[in-house]
Amino acid sequence: MMKSYFPKDFLWGGAIAANQAEGAWNVGGKGLSVADVAKYKPETDVKDYVSQWHVSPAQIKEAMATNDETFFPKRHGIDFYHRYEDDLALFNEMGMKSLRVSIAWTRLFPNGNEECPNKEGIAFYHRLFKSMRENKIEPIVTLSHYEMPLYLVNEYDGWVSREVVEMFTHYAEVCLKEYSQYVNYWLTFNEIDSVFRHPFTTVGVVEEKYSGKQEAEEAIYQALHHQFVASSITTKLAKKIDKTNQIGCMMTRTLAYPLTSNPADVLLAQQHNRENYFYADVQVFGEYPQFVKNYWKEKGIHVEILPGDEEILKLYTVDFVSFSYYMSMIKSVDEEHMEKVGGNLVTSVKNPYLDISEWGWQIDPIGLRISLIDMYDRYRLPLFIVESGIGSIDKLSNGKIHDDYRIEYFKNHFKEVNEAIKSGVEVMGYTTWGCIDIVSASTSQMSKRYGFIYVDLDDLGRGSYNRIKKDSFYWYQKVIETNGAVLYEEVGNPEKVNMHQ
Ligand code: BG6
Repeated sequence: MMKSYFPKDFLWGGAIAANQAEGAWNVGGKGLSVADVAKYKPETDVKDYVSQWHVSPAQIKEAMATNDETFFPKRHGIDFYHRYEDDLALFNEMGMKSLRVSIAWTRLFPNGNEECPNKEGIAFYHRLFKSMRENKIEPIVTLSHYEMPLYLVNEYDGWVSREVVEMFTHYAEVCLKEYSQYVNYWLTFNEIDSVFRHPFTTVGVVEEKYSGKQEAEEAIYQALHHQFVASSITTKLAKKIDKTNQIGCMMTRTLAYPLTSNPADVLLAQQHNRENYFYADVQVFGEYPQFVKNYWKEKGIHVEILPGDEEILKLYTVDFVSFSYYMSMIKSVDEEHMEKVGGNLVTSVKNPYLDISEWGWQIDPIGLRISLIDMYDRYRLPLFIVESGIGSIDKLSNGKIHDDYRIEYFKNHFKEVNEAIKSGVEVMGYTTWGCIDIVSASTSQMSKRYGFIYVDLDDLGRGSYNRIKKDSFYWYQKVIETNGAVLYEEVGNPEKVNMHQ
C-alpha cells in the first residue's frame, strides 16, 4: 500500500492575497490600488474571463469617484485587516505550517512614488508577521499580487515606464529590511505570466491607451521586461539584506495536452507549454529564450533592454520555483468547432476524461503530478505549489458546511504530489488557495468559495463576516497532523474525521 513520502518539514499551508482578503481599502493611509477599481459584474457571464477582468478607462473614472464597496468588493475583502488575529488562531488550530500572504504596496506607498513609507502600513505588517510567528506559521510573502498603486497606472502607464522599476525596488527594499526578521520565503510577482491575460491588473497597462493590438502587445512586453529586471534587483537586495532569504518566481501552470496523436495537435500543445514556461525560464536561467527574441523580430516588436539588464537577469536568478495549479487544458488544430470549457483565465477544449468545477475549470490531479515532474526535470530547483483549490458554492445547513467535494479534490491532488515526491521531485510545500473564503480575483464574487473556513458574506457584501469551520477544516487538520498518512486510510464520510464534534 502507498504511504506518505512528504518530508517532515513539508510546508502544508494556505494562501491568500492582500487585495482579496484585507479590505480596509481606505484605512491607515492606504492608497488606491488596481484591485480597488475591480468591479463585481453580476450581468456578465462568470465564464467570460476577458470581460470579467477587463477594466476600461471609464470604469477607473467611475471607481475613483465613489466610495462604494458593494460593487467594488475587494475594498472590503473579508476584513482580514481587522480580524487577522482570530484568523491566524484558526489556521493554527488547523495545524497550518505556512501561510502565503501578500503585502499591499499601497499600504506602504499609497501612490507608489513616495520616498518615505507610510508608518501605519509598516506597523500593520509587523503585527501580522509577528503574529504569524507566534502562531508557528511560516510566512510566504508575495511582494506584488495584482495590487499595484493606481496612481502609477494613471500617471506612469504602469510598468511600461522604466521609473516604476525603481519605485518597486525601493518598496521591496523597505519590505526586506523591515520584515526579513520574520520572513524567509519571498515571491516577487504573482503569476507573472498573466500579463497577457489581464494586463491592467498585472502590469497596469490600459489597452485603450494604445493605437492597436500590436502597440499594446509591445507595451506589455516592455512592462514584463521591467518586472523581470525588478525581480532580479529584488533578489540581489534580498541576499544583501539577509543571505538566508529565499526568493521564488511564481507562474500559473496551465498544462496543455494534445487532443489526439496527430503530430499537429502535439506540436500545438508543446507550443503552449513552452510559452507557459517562458516566464520561469527567464527567472531560472537568467535569459530570454531564443524563440521569444525571434518572435519579437518577426513581429517588429521593440523592447527597450538597457545596458546592464541582461547581466542583472543572469546574475540574480531565483532559488525556487513556485506556481499555481488549478486545471489542465487541451490543444487541437480543430478547436474552433469543439466544445469549450472555462478555466483560470483561459478557455480550453473539453477533456472528456475530466470533471469540471461549477465555474468550468477542468479538475485534473494527475496533471499536477505531470507538471511537477516536468518542471523539476526542466529547472532542477525545489518546487512550491503556492496556489491550488476548487471554487465552489458552499451551502450552509444547520450551521455546517459539508464540503466533501473539496475534501475529494484535495485528497486526489495531495496523493499525486506524494507520488511526485516518491519519484524524486523536490516539493517544498503546498499552500492551498483561499484557505479561508475570500473575494474571487476574476469575478469579484464571494460565492466562489475555496476555503476550509466559511465567511458569512454574500456577493453584495451582506453578512456578519463570521467564520465557520467547514468539514474540510477538520479533514485538512488531520492531513497535516499525520503528514499525509491519513490520505491512505479509508475516510468515507468526512464527518468521521471530525475529531472536534
Ligand atoms: C490565481 C490568482 O490566478 O487564481 C488568485 O493568483 C486567484 O489571486 C486564483 O484568486 C483563483 O481565481 P479566482 O478568479 O477564482 O479567484
